[in-house]
Amino acid sequence: MKLFLDTANIQEIRDGVRLGVISGVTTNPSLAASEGIGSREKYKIAVQEISDILDGPISVEVVSLDADGMVAEGREIAEWIPNPWVKIPSTAAGFEAISTLSHDGIKINQTLCFSLNQALLGAQAGSTVVSPFVGRLDDIGQQGMDLVKEIVAVFKTQNIETEVLAASIRHTLHCTMAAQAGAHIATLPYRILLQMVQHPLTDSGVARFLADWEKAGNS
Ligand code: G3P
Repeated sequence: MKLFLDTANIQEIRDGVRLGVISGVTTNPSLAASEGIGSREKYKIAVQEISDILDGPISVEVVSLDADGMVAEGREIAEWIPNPWVKIPSTAAGFEAISTLSHDGIKINQTLCFSLNQALLGAQAGSTVVSPFVGRLDDIGQQGMDLVKEIVAVFKTQNIETEVLAASIRHTLHCTMAAQAGAHIATLPYRILLQMVQHPLTDSGVARFLADWEKAGNS
């Protein structure tokens, strides 16, 4: 399972990428807004900066609600950087836009997916990846990871090439479970990437090795 960072924060992306474990970045209008990005031009500049840091797919979301608007935005975003994935929501207008843009050869991250049927529709329309939102399903009392498992299993049975990107990851257990479910990608907030590194036995082990080394007269 590949790991992406789910953030528009340039410093987090620089720090995460330095670890050598990140293959892509996902952004959305909320994440952009939380970085003070308040215009299309600023979003473009931030996305280009991200693309300079990381040689992997960068997901950039459209904000139009109608298919024509999404297609126009998608075509524009596709010109911004070398490896764009246009994020399109799982709506009727979204499927129409996915179909048009994917026929143009533009890669699509189908976002806000909350059901297997939405994932099946997106796959038929030509989504490159589909993003089931695990945490937001948990929030309404459903087991979000079950959707990831379901999509992975059905896509495998049906020989569907669309990949599954586990999104709305809220804690490290989501990450573990997404890998166990067979997700191709999980996109993580930076703080969860840092939590994945942590284990108290690693810290105490490093401290003990160092203490023993120094006790023997080494420095
Ligand atoms: O990139 C979209 C997704 O990961 C959002 O997560 O925490 O806002 O549900 P969250």
